Amino acid sequence: MKIVTLVLFALLGYALGQQIGTNAPENHPPLSIQSCTSPGQCQTQQASIVLDSNWRWTHIVSGTQNCYTGNKWDTSLCPDGVTCAKNCALDGADYQGTYGVFSSGSSLKLNFVTHGPYSSNIGSRLYLLESDSEYKMFKLKNAEFSFDVDVSKLPCGLNGALYFVEMDADGGTSRFPTNKAGAKYGTGYCDAQCPHDLKFINGEANCEDWDSSPNDPNSGTGKYGTCCTEMDIWESNSISTAYTAHVCTVNGQRRCEGKDCGDDSKGQRHDGVCDKDGCDFNPYRLGDHTFFGPGSNFTIDTTQVFTVVTQFVTNDNTDNGVLSEIRRQWIQNGKVIMSRNVTVGGKTFNSVTDDFCNTQKTAFGDSNDYEKRGGHKKLSEVLDQGMVLVMSLWDDHAVNMLWLDSDYPLDKSPSAPGVARGTCPTSSGKPSDVESKYPDASVTYSNIKYGPIGSTMPK
Ligand SMILES: *[C@@H]1O[C@H](CO)[C@@H](O)[C@H](O)[C@H]1NC(C)=O
Ligand SMILES: *[C@@H]1O[C@H](CO)[C@@H](O)[C@H](O)[C@H]1NC(C)=O
Repeated sequence: MKIVTLVLFALLGYALGQQIGTNAPENHPPLSIQSCTSPGQCQTQQASIVLDSNWRWTHIVSGTQNCYTGNKWDTSLCPDGVTCAKNCALDGADYQGTYGVFSSGSSLKLNFVTHGPYSSNIGSRLYLLESDSEYKMFKLKNAEFSFDVDVSKLPCGLNGALYFVEMDADGGTSRFPTNKAGAKYGTGYCDAQCPHDLKFINGEANCEDWDSSPNDPNSGTGKYGTCCTEMDIWESNSISTAYTAHVCTVNGQRRCEGKDCGDDSKGQRHDGVCDKDGCDFNPYRLGDHTFFGPGSNFTIDTTQVFTVVTQFVTNDNTDNGVLSEIRRQWIQNGKVIMSRNVTVGGKTFNSVTDDFCNTQKTAFGDSNDYEKRGGHKKLSEVLDQGMVLVMSLWDDHAVNMLWLDSDYPLDKSPSAPGVARGTCPTSSGKPSDVESKYPDASVTYSNIKYGPIGSTMPK
């Protein structure tokens, strides 16, 4: 009997694993982007986007019975991760109707709350695809990336994020052949928080030790996390903004367990393989309170669309150099605006260098995990390898986004260095509040361009 079973599994083995569901077709919404060589010299490329697998209907391979409902796994279909990945499939997405994701030309709009036929959807996370089965890998060392953004409909507590992570181009199918779904179904996510809420990691379900979230009806956490280096070009709402570099000591996407995940709940935040805090540049936190916000009193008026340009400068200004500086420029109403100087620890900065990171960490009394995990040198290597573009909209079930737009942490005086990050009240940003008060919130990303430094700027 044992032998028969083994033979059967060996025969079927190639077809088993985190499967593809066929109840709904998967049609990737198109999104055009531009590759530039110099100002005014840009070529349009037809790319597309794909929804992360975590948002998808997860059901038995042949049929419609759920493997996962709300924030719980079906423990008979999913007694362990390997069996679950054999039994369960990820299905195609109705981008507009279920998830509130709209693409048109070069523009992508993400709605916050969408009441669909089967569920209420909150936010989304999407990746840019190069082909139907591979993410586009951006190599941005000694290069720049720009996009337009409309944050006018993002109140306190929401975060419209555009960032890069070191995912596998194929979503993990070649390293983990039990993952049959791959990039076509948005698998393989990782970031520097080593999130435990991914339903599938490394071709297995993350159903072991699954804890349903006490305050999120759609989410929970499993035994494993999924870690990788992350460059947050953009995390913002209409009140506050930050760009943040996070590095990990691991190369590429890596599943973590135990201390390596750096779990806050176990008091191990600073013991994992990734720098969870990151090195952030938030003008408000750095003392510049009139740079970014709603209305004409701010240098960047968040009631109107603007362009965000991020430059990854190397120490010798060539492709062979090491990343030395991450610079930001802005364009609004045709005017190019440099990031303003801020003073921290007695020094002046307007960009993210290792010196800036070290100085800010010391001045704010923060643990310098960025430097400990390798700093700009490590990020430089990852930028050389290539990273996947993520665009998302989310609310924060852990700390109500206070780290971005209010005072944080709450046990420190708001006047202590680095605590005030924006003007949102400390009572703002509770998911239950923002989801009921601002269901129509949205973010729009458009006109994505990339190329050598200076090439995406106006002629
Ligand atoms: C700009 O700031 C001034 C002075 O604080 C204030 O009176 C005015 O209402 C502000 N204007 C806008 C558009 O917010
Ligand atoms: C910013 O600071 C640098 C270095 O201190 C200085 O050279 C530069 O002129 C300053 N820029 C502005 C706009 O004040």
